[in-house]
Amino acid sequence: MTAPAGTAPETLRHTPTVVRTRAELDGVLDRSRPVALVPTMGALHDGHASLVRLARERVGADATLVVSVFVNPLQFGPDEDFDRYPRDLEADLEVCAREGVDVVLAPAVEEMYPTGVPHALTGDPVSVHPGATADILEGASRPGHFRGVLTVVAKLFGLVRPDVAVFGEKDYQQLALIRRLVDDLCLRVDVVGAPTDRDPDGLARSSRNRYLSADERVRALALNRALGAAQQRASYGVEAARAAALDVLAGEPGVRLDYLALTRADLGELAERPEPGTEGRALIAARVGTTRLIDNLPLQF
Ligand code: PAF
Repeated sequence: MTAPAGTAPETLRHTPTVVRTRAELDGVLDRSRPVALVPTMGALHDGHASLVRLARERVGADATLVVSVFVNPLQFGPDEDFDRYPRDLEADLEVCAREGVDVVLAPAVEEMYPTGVPHALTGDPVSVHPGATADILEGASRPGHFRGVLTVVAKLFGLVRPDVAVFGEKDYQQLALIRRLVDDLCLRVDVVGAPTDRDPDGLARSSRNRYLSADERVRALALNRALGAAQQRASYGVEAARAAALDVLAGEPGVRLDYLALTRADLGELAERPEPGTEGRALIAARVGTTRLIDNLPLQF
């Protein structure tokens, strides 16, 4: 049974089929029906639920909706939180059941990397070179991160062979690179970007928010406020927008800025005075306590 779009009523809850291997996946996928994929690293929250609902809306009630849950070692740097990244498959299955997910793919590392996790320097075995857009912003702070993301996404696309795959706009650079992956490698997947899901006070939902203390969570709201200030001042030009955002951050010493970038919508460089009507993006990364958070908003010049 498949739940319709929107939050599934209690009566429509059904337990998704959990598969761990390619063979098990092939055994449950009916290839005569459309397939939608929502790739995740688990620790599912309302933000993920909104991706799942959008996927269901896109493919319809008869399609098979697959959520993958895989904490991908290749996209974590040596000093990052791979070991402490939250893992709770039972809780993830609850969310998937509520949202009418049909199949949960939860593979082991050996299943995703049967010939080993690619080496950071040599790249062996084969991995995806993400190009120059992967070296800026998140990529500058997290070398190798997007090689890890694109490699695992290409593998997931190869395993699931989805018609549609949904990714959140919160990871804006990731979404842009996945679109490039699909275009440049001629993959036949319709990549759909989902608007960032936020708590009522504006904090972008993220699995890492659970690391924040109550006090840090309040401080973290400055990220969204700074982006909002840039958005409001965008019609006065790039520097005015940047100054407005920095002004907000100056009033919040608990937030350690990693980067604040104002770019074109495709992440290219903006002219100082963009043509009226130019669409851009304001992107921010900062540490609050020990937690690194990212967020972004669209800009209209
Ligand atoms: O956005 C994420 O959760 C991950 O980067 C993704 C796309 C599931 C790849 O591991």
